[in-house]
Amino acid sequence: MYSVKELVESVGLTSVPSSYIFRDTKSDVHCMHVQSETVPIIDFSLLTSHDPDRRSETITRLGNACLEWGFFMCVVILQVINHGVPEMLRDEMVRETESFFDLREEDKRQYAGKKLFDPIRCGTSFNSNVDKTLLWRDYLKIHVHPHFNAPDKPSGFSKVLREYCQKTRDIAGELLKGISESLGLESGYINEKMRVGSSESHQLLVANMYPPCPQPELAMGLPPHSDHGLLTILMQNGIDGLQVMHEGNWVSINPLPNSFLVNTGDHMEILTNGKYKSVVHRAVVNSKAPRVSIGTAHGPPLDTVVSPAPELMTDGVGQAYLGIKYKNYLELQQSKTLSGKSCLDHLRLSI
Ligand code: OGA
Ligand code: NI
Repeated sequence: MYSVKELVESVGLTSVPSSYIFRDTKSDVHCMHVQSETVPIIDFSLLTSHDPDRRSETITRLGNACLEWGFFMCVVILQVINHGVPEMLRDEMVRETESFFDLREEDKRQYAGKKLFDPIRCGTSFNSNVDKTLLWRDYLKIHVHPHFNAPDKPSGFSKVLREYCQKTRDIAGELLKGISESLGLESGYINEKMRVGSSESHQLLVANMYPPCPQPELAMGLPPHSDHGLLTILMQNGIDGLQVMHEGNWVSINPLPNSFLVNTGDHMEILTNGKYKSVVHRAVVNSKAPRVSIGTAHGPPLDTVVSPAPELMTDGVGQAYLGIKYKNYLELQQSKTLSGKSCLDHLRLSI
């Protein structure tokens, strides 16, 4: 199986091969371009502020973002610690990821075509064995916690990756504290119950490469889907392409400088018994420049059964989702083509 990058680089492509032509009437909704200002913005420094008023304002804002969007931009200034190079960690992470995709095919091949729980896996499309239409996307997926893994090339990748993953885990932990409070729960509720931040919590890094596409309106980077996990924290190389579904429209996301794009995942929806729903999003492609995005999915240890929190089933609201082991949910998602919130449909109870 060719990667899209190889396909684009090997021949002077002027049109999209038919196997990549994406037709999905369900996602064919009017695409509205909304300016960044309308998307909720969370200033991370206020969330961790010692000023109780500013913190509680930010928690309210965070709760509303989860309730109304399932998505927000979180502005965080990241500095590299104990590192000789003065650039920001984010920039380094993007550069190293780009260099990974630029490696020779024989260097990447050792990670190709492997199974879901293999430590490092790269490939193309989503599940190229079952995808009816191929996606204009190559990926690198690394299980980075509880066991840290890293490709041995490029040589600087491992160090930057380790630090980046630690930082994003710290950010997720703080966000989950705020989200717990926004639900009227103890600040540590989600972290403790889901054992996020514990030495066993699960973190998967997914790096996406979307090469330039000669007919971007015909192909799709990632089709509409929701993510597994509680939260996904994503950043990109300065090229836009993420769209989130909000009130029936696709909203194009133009990130603010230093912002991470954060979305709620399916396990947030299960845990909150549907109060905070996972957001449907997609990645479109462009004809001008390669786009790289790097997301980390934050979830509980793989053997944790995630089910609705009893504290959120009060006031006569019954249990709306079946519990499921995190590991089994990941397997379920990987066994199918990526399509909307189809995995959650297996767990919904009619109430
Ligand atoms: C994902 C994802 C969006 C993007 O990897 O699950 O939704 O902008 N990525 O690349
Ligand atoms: Ni996603």
